[in-house]
Amino acid sequence: MKFAVIGHPIKHSLSPLMHHANFKALQTDDEYAALHIDPKHFHHLRDIIQDKAIDGFNITIPYKVDMLQVVDVVDTEAQMIGAINTVHIKDGVWYGYNTDGAGFKASIENYIGGKNIVVLGAGGASQAICYTLFKDNKVTVLNRNTNRVADWPFQIEAYTYDMSDAIKQADIVINTTPVGMDGFMADDLIDISQLKPSAVVCDIIYTPDRTPILQSAAQRGLSIINGLDMFVNQGALSYEIWTGNKADKTAMKQAVINYLQ
Ligand code: ATR
Repeated sequence: MKFAVIGHPIKHSLSPLMHHANFKALQTDDEYAALHIDPKHFHHLRDIIQDKAIDGFNITIPYKVDMLQVVDVVDTEAQMIGAINTVHIKDGVWYGYNTDGAGFKASIENYIGGKNIVVLGAGGASQAICYTLFKDNKVTVLNRNTNRVADWPFQIEAYTYDMSDAIKQADIVINTTPVGMDGFMADDLIDISQLKPSAVVCDIIYTPDRTPILQSAAQRGLSIINGLDMFVNQGALSYEIWTGNKADKTAMKQAVINYLQ
């Protein structure tokens, strides 16, 4: 089968490398390409994908929200998250899904002991993670602008960073802001010293290995999780949607680790 990831820019995406490691492990002759879609060609997307006979594709920045208008059927989870990261084309019908939240949830499964979760940031990644976690946990969002959460189609408590004591009760803290990525300062969004010693700190960024928030948490002896497992899990879930088969997550993760070393 033929798969792809679309985005703008796209050349830094590790999805092709990760999916090819899965194809190799499963001994399939599937293909996965990185497709650059210039914003001025986005309205031709259906023609572009159909010309290439693609069966399913992932969507990255900046098209996850726009994709809601392009597909024929939107899965409920993607609707609630307000974005699509996976499209499956079956008999010419385009089905839109979102595996980002479920991918994140799977990556912290071994750690969900306590139920108090604090999510930093209120963008698309935060909405995906909050939606998959809020039914079974107490989720609080901290963001500069709390109005963003008010627009979500499900209810979550939100505070500004300076207005919350939530951090003291948190069992898991998840950073979804770009703080720690190139060009962003390692602002102290939260005071890590206020966290419980048993707290787990996550960052959805998978490179570099230790973002400023994770570094600070590790220095204080807290458990840390970076975004690598989330990335692998969302890709594996996409593959399962496209093919009905389980992906080889160990092979996928190893390929990304090897590349990043
Ligand atoms: P994504 O869709 O990948 O989650 P996004 O929609 O750009 O990305 O959201 C990024 C989040 O990080 C936003 O909530 C943003 O805060 P605002 O809603 O107040 O704009 C937050 N963010 C970005 N840069 C930040 C910074 N330097 N400090 C704190 N928060 C920041």
